[in-house]
Amino acid sequence: MNPGIETMAFYTPRYYLDLRTLAAHRGADPDKFYLGLGQEKMAVSPPDEDVVTMAAEAARMALEGVDVSSIDTLMFATETGVDQSKAAAIYVHRLLGLSTHCRSFELKQACCSSTAGLQMALALVAQRPHKKVLLVAGDIARYGLGAAGEPTQGAGAVAMVISAEPRVIAFEPEQGSYTEDVMDFWRPNYLEEALVDGKYSIKVYLRALAKSWEHYRQESGRAFTDHDFFCYHLPFTRMAEKAHLHLARLNQLPPDPDRLDREVEPSLLYNRQTGNCYTASLYEGLLSLLETSEGNLAGKRVGLFSYGSGCMASFFSGKILPGYRDAIPLDRGRRLLEDRTELRYEEYENFYEHRLPTDGSAYAIASHQTGAFRLAGVADHKRNYERVEVAAVKAVPPPPQAVPAKKAVVA
Ligand code: CAA
Repeated sequence: MNPGIETMAFYTPRYYLDLRTLAAHRGADPDKFYLGLGQEKMAVSPPDEDVVTMAAEAARMALEGVDVSSIDTLMFATETGVDQSKAAAIYVHRLLGLSTHCRSFELKQACCSSTAGLQMALALVAQRPHKKVLLVAGDIARYGLGAAGEPTQGAGAVAMVISAEPRVIAFEPEQGSYTEDVMDFWRPNYLEEALVDGKYSIKVYLRALAKSWEHYRQESGRAFTDHDFFCYHLPFTRMAEKAHLHLARLNQLPPDPDRLDREVEPSLLYNRQTGNCYTASLYEGLLSLLETSEGNLAGKRVGLFSYGSGCMASFFSGKILPGYRDAIPLDRGRRLLEDRTELRYEEYENFYEHRLPTDGSAYAIASHQTGAFRLAGVADHKRNYERVEVAAVKAVPPPPQAVPAKKAVVA
C-alpha cells in the first residue's frame, strides 16, 4: 500500500464574525461576501491563541489512539511563525510531550509548505515504515481592517499522522509541480499583515493549476474523469469553483451543471465557515469532504491542488481507504464549528488589534475560550504557554444535510 494519512484532525478558534456583520460595517452588500466570495463566517483568534496553540490542539486530537513513541519527526508548516529563529514546532513538541528523539522543525512556502511537508513525510515513512511523522499546518490570515482581503481572513490548523499504514487516505506517487517567481501575495518581515495583489493572484493560481495539472497528467497518465473528487487550496470557496471549471474546460469536458456539487462542494463546507487558514486550507477541505459526504467514500480517488503564493504549486492524488470512518470521528468538525461564539463587530476589532508588548515587559493575557492550550503571556521576550481544561463541546442535533449554499453564477 502507498503511505498516507493514518489519522487527522482540524481545529479552528472558538470565535467567529458573521460576514453579514462585516458587510454592514464596510457598507458592502452581504451577497458579495456570501455569494461573490462564497464565505459566510470568519474564524477569529482571541488574544491567548496563536498558531502554536491551534496546532497543538489539532495534534492532540489527531494523536488520540496513536502510539506517540512511533513519531520521530514533527513538521510545522506555517506562514504565521512566532519567531524568526526558533521553530514553532518545538513549542508544540513540548506541549504534546513528544519524545526528545523526535526532531521538530518549521517549513515555509506560503500556503503550500504543508504539501511540501506531506511529500517529505511520505518519503520518510516509505524509507522507515516503522516510524511516523506528525505534520501540523496552521495559520491566522490577516489582511487589515477594511482591506479588500478582509472578508477572506480566517484561522485554523490541521494535524495529520503520516504513516506507512494509513487508514484515511493513501497518496499515489505521481505529482505535478510548478514554481514561478511572482509577487501576488507576500509579507515582509516587518509587517503583520499580508500584501496582496488579489486579482493578479487569482490569475496566477489558475495558471499554476493548469501547469501543475499538465505535469501530473504526464507523470500519471490519469485523466480528469479518473478522479471522483477534487480538493483545492481555498483562499475563499469561490476560488475552488473557478479552478474546477477552469480545469474542466482545459480538459475539454462537456458542460455539466452538477459537476461542482458532485465533485467539489463537500470539500468547501468547513472553509465557508472559517475563512482562509493558509497552509491548513487544502487539508481542512479534505476533512470537510471526508466528514460531510454522505455514503461510503472508500476506494474513491481525490485530486488535490495545493497553491502557495510567490509561487509554488502541486497537483497530486490519493485514494480514500476503507478505515477512514473509524480513523476520524465524523462529527468532530461539525461540532467544533457549531459550538462557537459569535463576536460583535467591536469585539472583532478588539481581538484583531490586540498586540503583545515588544519591549520585553511581563504581560499576562486574559483567558478566553480556547482548545487545551493557551498563550498565557510573555516576559523577557519569551512566550509562555499553558495547558487548560477544555469545556466539553456541547451536544448538537444531527448533522444538517450538506446542502450546497446558494451560489453566484459562475462564468
Ligand atoms: N452579489 C453577488 N456577487 C457579487 C456582488 C453582489 N452584490 N458584488 C460583487 N460580487 C462578486 C463579484 O462579481 C466577484 O465575482 P467574480 O470573481 O466571479 O467576478 C466577487 O464577488 C468578488 O468581487 P470583487 O472582485 O469586486 O472583490 P474585491 O475586489 O473586493 O476582491 C479578492 C476580491 C481579490 C478575492 C480579495 O478578497 C482578496 O484580495 N483576497 C485575498 C487574496 C486572495 O484570496 N487571493 C486569491 C488567490 S491567492 C492564494 O490562493 C494564496 C492565499 O491563500 C492568499
